[in-house]
Amino acid sequence: MTEKKTSNTPTTNPLWGGRFASGPGALMEQMNASIEFDKALYTQDIEGSRAHCTMLGSVGILSDDDCNAILKGLDTIQNEIESGDFVFSPALEDIHMHIESRLIELVGDPGARLHTARSRNDQVATDFRLWVRDAIDRLDPSLRALQSALIDQAEAEAATVLPGLTHLQPAQPVTFGHHMLAYVEMLRRDRGRFADCRGRLNESPLGAAALAGTSFPIDPAMTAKALGFDGPMNNSMDAVSARDFAIEFLADAAIAATHLSRLAEELVMWASPRFGFVTVDDTFSTGSSIMPQKRNPDAAELVRGKSGRIIGALNGLLIVLKGLPLAYSKDLQEDKEPVFAAAGQLDLCVAAMTGMIGGMTVNTQAMRAACEDGFLTATDLADWLVRTLNMPFRNAHAVTGQVVKLAETRGCGLADLSLADLQSVEAGITDDVFQVLGIEQSVASRSSPGGTAPDQVRAAAAAARKRL
Ligand code: ARG
Repeated sequence: MTEKKTSNTPTTNPLWGGRFASGPGALMEQMNASIEFDKALYTQDIEGSRAHCTMLGSVGILSDDDCNAILKGLDTIQNEIESGDFVFSPALEDIHMHIESRLIELVGDPGARLHTARSRNDQVATDFRLWVRDAIDRLDPSLRALQSALIDQAEAEAATVLPGLTHLQPAQPVTFGHHMLAYVEMLRRDRGRFADCRGRLNESPLGAAALAGTSFPIDPAMTAKALGFDGPMNNSMDAVSARDFAIEFLADAAIAATHLSRLAEELVMWASPRFGFVTVDDTFSTGSSIMPQKRNPDAAELVRGKSGRIIGALNGLLIVLKGLPLAYSKDLQEDKEPVFAAAGQLDLCVAAMTGMIGGMTVNTQAMRAACEDGFLTATDLADWLVRTLNMPFRNAHAVTGQVVKLAETRGCGLADLSLADLQSVEAGITDDVFQVLGIEQSVASRSSPGGTAPDQVRAAAAAARKRL
């Protein structure tokens, strides 16, 4: 059979087109090409190729001359990409084929030997693990910087009181420093989760080749070591198809983004004039094109909003993965965009939150004034009745409820009631009780470990600082 080739027949792929009469159609090319996003892997790809090449040389699969030519070519390519001189084309599908074909163009035969004992399947798995590892290494200091900004606020506002809420209803007075430190704890666990993810992902897929391993006498421990992995993966089929490292990264990112979103929601609330607790700095606020008075905490709203996309990325990747048989399927190419996007958005959110927390003005007077509403020291009164009159707590709760009702009809706070008023509800109450009805006394008394008392907050801030 003779092949009829017209000028309309797409040319076959130079790297894998041997068994094809025609190249992929335009639609296939568009659908198949990942270069637009996986060019982000170029550093990791070149790093992986360097390690693979050096290993091939060391075990005698490549000559020293070939190795040197390849390594030189890879340096050139890295420079070309970084200087913007590298030509990208969708016909070459992905970053791996771009770099390999340019290498062959630059150094000829030795370049064509680089792919010995390697497949794009173990190559991309390696690159992607390296990328996620780098992303975690970038993220950790940013999360630490945010913790540090929160600790700064905690130290400055260790004794600043505001209404603590449950159900968004006035509950008990707390200190603003204590509130800040709650987020420091969340971020500590977030960093721990990313560190765990890093530990688990740090195994090298290189050497798994397409799926079954290779008949060449390779040294996977050597490439693993060169790339900073703890060792090679145990199973070649797992090595090329596992993406749980990416899912775990996204899960950790989704949890961290959820924490940031909750803090963002609080900033939005606190910045609203109804609260007026904080002023978000101009650099993180915007105005309105129609309402001249507006001052919107947009950065906080965007942090809250972007968390949705990050959570979506996790969901998306889980769904891509859940029906895939072993080993590699092209579906796996869909793994990168959600991870790249989520990592980028999270970086941005953490940086913006750090700026907002560091630059916000804390309106301590508004916080203190808000403590006058909501009978925040009712629990203190009940506790006093238990402690001083040896009243069972349930009875003390009922008595305090009546006192609250009385204050409500009087239109005043608990501390503003007269002793006679208080005694009309419970005859045993003495003047002593006023020592526990004040806001400052209330927070100072909450000195149990992890409590909101200013002294506790100062100690907790110092401990958190030390942990950083
Ligand atoms: N661009 C591909 C990906 O991201 C690389 C691996 C391709 N492997 C293959 N057998 N076609 O997954």
